[in-house]
Amino acid sequence: MGTVVEDIKDKLDIAEVIKGYITVSPAGKNFKACCPFHHEKTPSFMISPDRRSWHCFGGCNEGGDVISFVMKYENVEFYDALKLLAERAGIDPSRLRGGAGEYRKYDALYAINEAAKEFFIASMPPHVREYALGRGLSEATLAEFGVGYAPNEPDTLLRTMTKRGFSVQDICEAGVVFRTERGTYWDRFRNRLMFPLYNHVGKVVGFTGRIMPDDPKAAELAKYVNSPETPIFAKSKILYGFHATKAHVREAGAALLVEGQMDFLMAYQAGVRNVVATSGTALTGEHLETLRRLADTLLLCFDNDEAGQRAIERGIDLALAHDFSVKVVALSGKDPADIVRDNPQALAGFVAAAGSARDFYFNRYLPQSVGISHDHEALKRGVRAVLLKAKALPSPFEQSAWLKELVMRTGMSEHVLQSEMDRLEAPHGAVVPLRVSAVPYGQAPAAAPAVRESRKGLIIRRIVQLGGAPELASFAPEYVAPEISALSEMKASLDGGDISPEDRAKEVMLLVVELEREWRKEKIAVLKGAIIEAQAMKDEVRLASAMREFDTFSRQLHTRVDDKTHK
Ligand code: CTP
Ligand code: MN
Repeated sequence: MGTVVEDIKDKLDIAEVIKGYITVSPAGKNFKACCPFHHEKTPSFMISPDRRSWHCFGGCNEGGDVISFVMKYENVEFYDALKLLAERAGIDPSRLRGGAGEYRKYDALYAINEAAKEFFIASMPPHVREYALGRGLSEATLAEFGVGYAPNEPDTLLRTMTKRGFSVQDICEAGVVFRTERGTYWDRFRNRLMFPLYNHVGKVVGFTGRIMPDDPKAAELAKYVNSPETPIFAKSKILYGFHATKAHVREAGAALLVEGQMDFLMAYQAGVRNVVATSGTALTGEHLETLRRLADTLLLCFDNDEAGQRAIERGIDLALAHDFSVKVVALSGKDPADIVRDNPQALAGFVAAAGSARDFYFNRYLPQSVGISHDHEALKRGVRAVLLKAKALPSPFEQSAWLKELVMRTGMSEHVLQSEMDRLEAPHGAVVPLRVSAVPYGQAPAAAPAVRESRKGLIIRRIVQLGGAPELASFAPEYVAPEISALSEMKASLDGGDISPEDRAKEVMLLVVELEREWRKEKIAVLKGAIIEAQAMKDEVRLASAMREFDTFSRQLHTRVDDKTHK
């Protein structure tokens, strides 16, 4: 008998488990399917029973074992996936629960959070209820989402919890109590309106608490205090309210993203049900991956201030990189919660009138006034800002549409705009989102650690997927081989896509041109290093040759020469 994890993987046929969720078809000794984690028409999702693994060669380029599949598909944490699968594999549940079980801790953490929620609900005095109702929340909403109150006392929660038989250590680890440097224990939340945070299957995993406005120290204290990360609570993954709204998100094919608990609850209460909120953290790639499985449109609806506009900008970039169709909801008032409190019907109207991401950028950086004034500096700044965004777009077609729109708005020629765009340095990391696979508690990372997939990697992957591997022969093997070999084995059992040969050839050609540019950029970066080094070493000969090479490459990069040597 191995560990529970090993036993699960031994006893369950990964292909059988996945077949329970999606339709798969045989491909040699493997199976293939349309990837459930991104939208596609041609199967690029492979299951290898021998290797007990799955891998998506399409948009995700991700893989894992049967447990990570269930975690991703069901949007649950490691322990929940383990429970589901252990049951299926007929593994004795006592190996997961009970005093000695290696997973006892998880049950304790869930139980403490649930008990704390009950405590906060029971502790809500009339004046706090008045405050919540005064902000526009209804009794029904408060009850449905378990809103409560943390009393203004040092350790009432702690004492209540220990009386119920939980250990101080577990209560601390659950995050509702913390240990001071002097070794004493204090309730984390005091005099706050408490919002339980639910994971995606609806279990309480943490809290966020809003300070009561009448607190004498309200001005100095943080407005919201959140539970710390715990083995069952990963902020970067959890979307507030998603457990209650995912069916609506799926049905609408669109998700309305707001910034906090109040915005979520008020939108939900106003009948806008395909809503989710980030909570205590900025939007992450993992949030988006979760939503992308259910929806292809993301509506960003943030505060109507400069911070909100910046958050929208970041949201657009990240969402575009995740292949969302992005829309921006422009509000008249401060934030969605205020809009609803003043007029519950209004929010749906703003949502229906949402504009495109492209419009958002053009209006933000190139307002009418800039276009017609003679402020060339402002115009230049605006054009550059938009070009920078265009440059980061993954699709050449979309990029070209942005350029055409810029031509229309500024009267500059496409040629000039294109060469200006080529010259701009994209801010680091603007192109591809971070893919972090959270490592579950007590488990070693299964696959590679958090990596930012390079633009080069993306391009090569797409070329291979389009059957264009032979086109890569003009590149030095050491430049492309590592990327290719990692993909080739399972990929061999996939057949081609359903696009026409002409379109395929056209896209491969565009991609090869892009890859050439990436190659030159890399060369240039290396040469820059060599130049700096040669200067420092006063190595005139090396300096001269590096400068010469640098010159050649940068000229090639900035004029579109047709040089086919990349070796
Ligand atoms: N937030 C946080 N820590 C803070 C402030 C905010 O974690 N110090 C998070 C909370 O999840 C909050 C969200 O960011 O819900 C949005 O913040 P903000 O716009 O300030 O909250 P509002 O919903 O406007 O709060 P309120 O209306 O209660 O003032
Ligand atoms: Mn707000």
